[in-house]
Amino acid sequence: MNLRIPAQYATAAIDDVDADKARLVRAWLDQGTGAGFLFLTGPCGVGKTRLAYAIWLYKRRYGDTAKGVWVRSGFLAKRLSALCGQDAMDEYKLIKQLGRETPFMVIDDLGTEKLTEFVKAEYDLLLAEREQWQWPTVVTSNLSLNRISACHGDRIASRLNGGVVLNFDTGYKGVDDNPYPDYRGLKGDK
Ligand SMILES: Nc1ncnc2c1ncn2[C@@H]1O[C@H](COP(=O)(O)OP(=O)(O)OP(=O)(O)O)[C@@H](O)[C@H]1O
Ligand SMILES: [Mg+2]
Repeated sequence: MNLRIPAQYATAAIDDVDADKARLVRAWLDQGTGAGFLFLTGPCGVGKTRLAYAIWLYKRRYGDTAKGVWVRSGFLAKRLSALCGQDAMDEYKLIKQLGRETPFMVIDDLGTEKLTEFVKAEYDLLLAEREQWQWPTVVTSNLSLNRISACHGDRIASRLNGGVVLNFDTGYKGVDDNPYPDYRGLKGDK
């Protein structure tokens, strides 16, 4: 997919995060491929989406994003919920396409979607497919795995937990010794 990169993420690089996280990301990428889930969790503005774009830009060099999908969880949920009560074949085709035929996927902002029982079941299917085939999948969320377990179910939390989990666990304050401030709050004079 020829994804247009928003200007604010155009210079995103894996080394924007601390050395430990960058090392884990590179290990996950495994020379350009990556396998299974990379789950980025933490408060607002700490750089989760930025890291996901950095990975997208990195993988683009290997041609890995040509059939990749970048989707915000809210839109994905809407697309899935539109299939509720429709032809089951359409639902099957979409899950098959996203689960088995999409070699790289980013789901941004998991937890912001309207989570109906139908959407929950579709997410369960989709993430189980991606885990089964070990397709590289980056998921960002403000929710911890415990919250995801409570909201989306144990099965989804377990699959995310089975991959690489990076916790960006600070937020808001912009002091120098805070490795993950809310970068949005650092722009301009405050
Ligand atoms: N290490 C960094 N260096 C420079 N700018 C950064 C860094 N991390 C994040 N930013 C910038 O801060 C802004 C917020 O980052 P980002 O969108 O990645 O946050 P987020 O963790 O995804 O937040 P949310 O949970 O609200 O979606 C973006 O403009 C991003 O480019
Ligand atoms: Mg984000």
